[in-house]
This record gives sequence, C-alpha cells and structure tokens, in this order.
Amino acid sequence: MATRRNVMRAVKVFEFGGPEVLKLQSEISLPVPKENQVLINIHACGINPVDTYIRSGTYARKPALPYTPGTDVSGIIQEVGEHVAAFKKGDRVFTAGTISGGYAEYAVASAGTVFSLSDKLSLKQGAAIGIPYFTAYHALFQRGSAKAGETVLVHGASGGVGIAACQIARAYGLKVLGTAGTEEGMKLVLKNGVHKVFNHGKKGYLAEIKEEAGAQGIDVIMEMLANVNLANDLQLLSSGGRVMIVGSRGPIEINPRDIMQKESSIRGLSLFSSSKEEMHECAAAVLAGIEAGWLNPVVGPEYPMEKVAEAHKDLIYSKGALGKMILLTC
Ligand SMILES: NC(=O)c1ccc[n+]([C@@H]2O[C@H](COP(=O)([O-])OP(=O)(O)OC[C@H]3O[C@@H](n4cnc5c(N)ncnc54)[C@H](OP(=O)(O)O)[C@@H]3O)[C@@H](O)[C@H]2O)c1
Repeated sequence: MATRRNVMRAVKVFEFGGPEVLKLQSEISLPVPKENQVLINIHACGINPVDTYIRSGTYARKPALPYTPGTDVSGIIQEVGEHVAAFKKGDRVFTAGTISGGYAEYAVASAGTVFSLSDKLSLKQGAAIGIPYFTAYHALFQRGSAKAGETVLVHGASGGVGIAACQIARAYGLKVLGTAGTEEGMKLVLKNGVHKVFNHGKKGYLAEIKEEAGAQGIDVIMEMLANVNLANDLQLLSSGGRVMIVGSRGPIEINPRDIMQKESSIRGLSLFSSSKEEMHECAAAVLAGIEAGWLNPVVGPEYPMEKVAEAHKDLIYSKGALGKMILLTC
C-alpha cells in the first residue's frame, strides 16, 4: 500500500505587509481532512484582490498568523474525511472556500463548500469561479434586485467579477453594458455577454453610456472602483436605480441630492457577509449556469507559486485586466 505523502509546498504569511511577506515553503505538513471535510490536490487557485488586502493587514478580516491565503481552488479529491458521501478520491472539484488556504499543493475544505467540476470546464477555469461568480450573483440579484428587462452597467467588466457579471446578467435577460480600459479588454468583454462596450479610460465615455441608456437611464450599476466613479454613476441611474458598490479603494465626495429626486440608492455588499442561504442560492445558480453552458470563466494571467509576490503586485498595479488571475499550484 502506498504511504501517505506528508509534506507539501505552500505559501505562508508570517506577518502582515507588502507582497514580500508571501513566503513559499516546501516542508509544510499536509492537512488531514476531519469529519465532513475533504483533502483536495490543488491544480490552481484564483488570486482575488481581497487576498492582497488581507495580506496587508488593513482588511476587516484578519486571519491568525501564520496563514496560507486563497479561497477559490480547483483540483482532484485526494482523501475524504468521515461522513463524506458526496465525493471520492479522484473526483474533479472546485470550491468557494478552503479551511487551510488555497495557495498550496493541497488544502482541506468543508465538503459543503465543494462542488463537482463539470467536464465542460478546465481545472484552470474551476479556480476562476468562486468569489467572482458568487459575488456577481449576490450583487446583481440578492442585493441589487435586478430583473429581466432592466439595464445593467458593469463598470469594470474586464476582470474576474466583471466578466462573471456580464455572463450572468445576459443569461438572466438584462440589457448589459460594460466598460474596460483597453481595446483588448473591450474585445474580451464583447465576447462575454455585453450588448455594448465602452472604454472607461476614454474622455467622454460617460456621455456615450448616457446616450445608449436613453431617457430611462441605467437600472443597476455594478461598480468595481467606486472611489473613482460613484459621483458619475449617480448621474446615469434611472428612477429607482441602484449602484452596487462591489469594489472601492478610497473615499469620494458625492452630492446626496443626486439620489433624492430619482429615489435611487447606493448599496454596499460583501460576499463574506452573505448568509448560508444566500450562498446556497449563489451555488445553485452557478451550477445551473455551468450545466446550461453560458457560465464560462475567462482565465487571465497565470503565475507559478514561485511568483506569487509578483502576482499580488500585478493584480493591484497593472492595468488592462483580461479575465481572472490564477496561481498554478502543481
Ligand atoms: N464586495 C465583495 O464582496 C467583492 C468580491 C470580489 C471582489 N470585490 C472587489 O471588486 C473589485 C473587482 O474585483 P475583480 O476580482 O474583478 O478584480 P480584477 O480582476 O483585478 O478587475 C478589476 C476591474 O476594474 C476595472 N477598472 C480599472 N479602472 C477602472 C475605472 N476607472 N472604472 C471602472 N473600472 C475600472 C478593470 O478594468 P481595466 O483593467 O480594463 O481598466 C477591471 O475590469 C475589486 O476592488 C475587488 O476588491 C469585492
């Protein structure tokens, strides 16, 4: 009988700080799945902006040190703990959360947060589902009350959450407008569900969006950079329109009068604050989208574990997103 491997490579954070605090270690003990948990041999892990905020120590959620970052992994089931009937060794899976951290060769996860990965999607795509698609669904429907027939503007559509939002909104019958900051990004967005795309780096693009939306205005705005765009977003809204604050990296001044006459609203959201029931609904919608074929994650830049610090720098500072950044762990 083969002996169980007992060490692995994993990225560890021993102190909060810049990207240089991400340390790749090679003699980390392999986690053991407890009751209702599974051990996943990770193929890839999504790198999300929140990983960088948590690493810097400035985010509301601070894990106990040392920790391994990363939530959205895809891979193959290696072992199952007691009472796990849904999975067996060798199954292809993706998760929307791990217990031991995803920037590693192996991770344990609660079986309830693990899903079978359809053969329609690659393992790399599996690492691009969790936070982006769950957030997009949560923002559009659970917090944003979006309905078929409404118009949504995905302000920042070329990254992980943006592309997810475009695909979901299109599948649910909304008119979808999106923005990107480069020509390549605009082309990518056009292939992923938008009816019309705009360049958020181009002078006058807001007037173009206003013209496209007509007198009615925009019902839902999915805002990825509220500290830059919120004041302008309020001018684009329909009566009763909603701006969903998905991402923001600083303060901004707005005029409260801009939301009075239209009775429009600004709604914040955090996937980490969603309830168990909401997460269950997100998962069901995501799995249905994969089955139907319209949910097709776009994998962007790929980094090996040795380059994890570079990946964190690029995620925040490089311009021109082209899908979801992932870390290859095998
Ligand atoms: N609230 C939550 O629960 C939650 C969950 C997930 C993510 N987020 C946040 O949502 C944001 C997006 O996440 P992500 O994973 O999609 O990141 P990402 O893959 O890095 O994408 C960032 C997006 O922002 C766009 N952007 C850049 N400048 C912009 C501008 N001036 N106006 C509008 N958009 C602009 C980028 O477009 P170009 O590169 O083409 O310019 C790109 O589409 C981040 O701030 C993240 O922290 C929040």
